[in-house]
Amino acid sequence: MKDTQIQKLIKAEAKRQKNVINLIASENYVSKDVLTALGSELTNKYAEGYPGRRYYGGNEIVDKVELLCISRALKLFKLKPTEWHVNAQLLSGSPANFALYSALVPIGGKIMGMKLSSGGHLTHGHPLSMTGKLWKPIQFELDSQREIIDYDALLKIAIKEKPDMIVAGFTAYPRIVDFKKFRKIADACGALLHVDMAHFSGLVAGGQYPSPFPYADTVMTTTHKSLRGPRQALVFVRKDAREFDKKLDKMVIPGLFGGPHENNIAAVAVALKEADSPVFKKYAKQVIQNAKTLAKELQKRGWRIISGGTDSHLILVDTWMQGAGVSGKEASIRLEKAGIIVNMNTIPGDTRSVMDPSGIRLGTCAETTRGKKEKDMLKIAEKIDTALRAKK
Ligand SMILES: Cc1ncc(COP(=O)(O)O)c(C=O)c1O
Repeated sequence: MKDTQIQKLIKAEAKRQKNVINLIASENYVSKDVLTALGSELTNKYAEGYPGRRYYGGNEIVDKVELLCISRALKLFKLKPTEWHVNAQLLSGSPANFALYSALVPIGGKIMGMKLSSGGHLTHGHPLSMTGKLWKPIQFELDSQREIIDYDALLKIAIKEKPDMIVAGFTAYPRIVDFKKFRKIADACGALLHVDMAHFSGLVAGGQYPSPFPYADTVMTTTHKSLRGPRQALVFVRKDAREFDKKLDKMVIPGLFGGPHENNIAAVAVALKEADSPVFKKYAKQVIQNAKTLAKELQKRGWRIISGGTDSHLILVDTWMQGAGVSGKEASIRLEKAGIIVNMNTIPGDTRSVMDPSGIRLGTCAETTRGKKEKDMLKIAEKIDTALRAKK
């Protein structure tokens, strides 16, 4: 590389990544093949439009790339091309949710989603997100005692508010989501059911977490978390008389974007093929076993785990413990000094600020990719415990 300044920074980042224990729940380490596709000549191509109907010439190769990505996405999640449509051009999770809402919910319509402090994402209707400004957000919280979703409470809210769309899927919720119950709630109020499986899609692909597809009208996933691909997103919509496929595609281009990033789409295709394998199944299983082990060991050491445990890759730890411990911000600083990277996170019912909340979020996808097993989780728990309990 001729640009030594950037080359130095890339090398430094690679070294940093190697030298830390990475417990960021939304990160992972992609394969060399994914990196090769990302850094390929496909980045040079403008391809506004869709395979077979582009505005520019010279698309015969990238058309094949995009179609391959779409067919691999359908195969991985066991979907029939006659029943589901995929848009592979979304650049990341937030614009993907935004594009989908824009396509299917009239501006000013109601979108019901989980509150950020309960584990929802900004794009599920947070007031600071455009999704909370252009649409009327109906935000729900967790059951305050059990710290899990209270489906009966949700049903009541849905019947009262009659949202146009209900979003199921979260950024900091460690438990299995009952998509069948979400479907019933959506049907009871005539809402569309959108599942945002950004976090757990890799676990669904690996057969370790329930698939939302039998129940959802639409599904979004980022491809860079548990799915272990590049930073991109996929949106799936049911193919039927409602014409969600046409509405979504039209909203993506010309509605919101120009040319798709075909190098990213190729890298997604590579990741989808990698995920469609027995090795990935084993990986997904290990991710959850590691998370359960880490949660249990932290619990044994006296830390309060939100909802009492985890069913996924994700753990929420109450580090503040009503003043007996350290704040989430202090915890993340201490852990970084000890070589463990996490993010501070609000916990359900948090009374502290988002910038210095009561907890941290941990995830095991990245470290499991690096071959970590249960015994390593015990050591990591010990390190976390030591760092959090050290005197100032
Ligand atoms: C559930 C969920 N949806 C959407 C997103 C947004 O994805 P991105 O950061 O790629 O915009 C995230 C990211 O953390 C997420 O967890």
